[in-house]
Amino acid sequence: MADWTDCLNFGISIAKQASEVVLSAFQQKKEVKLKSSPADLVTETDQRVEKILISAIRNQYPDHRFIGEESVAAGERVQLTDAPTWIIDPIDGTVNFVHRFPFVAVSIAFTVNQQTQFGIVYSCVEDKLFHAQRGGGAFLNGEPLHASGQEDVSRCVVVTEIGAERDDLALSTMTSNIFRLLKLPVHGVRALGTAAVDMCQVATGGADAYYHIGMHCWDIAASAIIVQEAGGIVMDTDGSPFDMMSRRVIAASSSAVANRIAQVIQAFPCRRDDEDPDKCVCGASGVNGS
Ligand code: IPD
Repeated sequence: MADWTDCLNFGISIAKQASEVVLSAFQQKKEVKLKSSPADLVTETDQRVEKILISAIRNQYPDHRFIGEESVAAGERVQLTDAPTWIIDPIDGTVNFVHRFPFVAVSIAFTVNQQTQFGIVYSCVEDKLFHAQRGGGAFLNGEPLHASGQEDVSRCVVVTEIGAERDDLALSTMTSNIFRLLKLPVHGVRALGTAAVDMCQVATGGADAYYHIGMHCWDIAASAIIVQEAGGIVMDTDGSPFDMMSRRVIAASSSAVANRIAQVIQAFPCRRDDEDPDKCVCGASGVNGS
């Protein structure tokens, strides 16, 4: 079996450099552009950091491929192949970045044969480096991470995100899901504004579960392996195996908690996936699936 440790170490070193670029711009006023919705933002720093990361990796590994949030926003297709692929979110939590809300992360995952080999999440303002390599455990600033192991959903802190969609159906589904969780009851529901850092809270045991519908592979590919390597569970919101391209995820401390959350949350309204017109965001095939 190939050993990707050199790539991991290289990824960690460039994530640190990228984090410095993010931090140097953090306090400054940013010029903001809108992408898919009034809450889906991009700044020059997102684009610059992605370019820095891709050019550094390309220099070192000329044959490797990329899926990068801002390259996709600029028109590249999202295509996960068997080739070694770096999945990059230069700033996860761009709304936080724009507002100087202190949770922003550089997220980098690396896949081979469509299987994640390692994930790196650098929470820039907190100066926290999360990473995990397949079969090697998960770490925060070098210290091993362990999910809480909680099995009782009524004792859980659950993290989720509001997401960028603002139409009535999306908002009512999202708020109704939070209502349903609070009624279980759970101890609390939280949202930090960055899917990558949210999900890493499950790996630390600080939260017991996370669910999200509508996010992208670059938001959660790295944190998914970090949760798994910390002993947590990652699956689809419909209970099927995790697929980073499905735009749906539950991460949890145990299968019991993951399954209970899957039972209680509603599927997201069915709509066309911008990146793949034959698919819905909810995962059904065909735009009218449910
Ligand atoms: C967003 C963040 C946010 C989540 C959105 C993502 P971005 O990523 O992870 O928490 O709710 O779905 O798109 O745009 O800041 O990289």
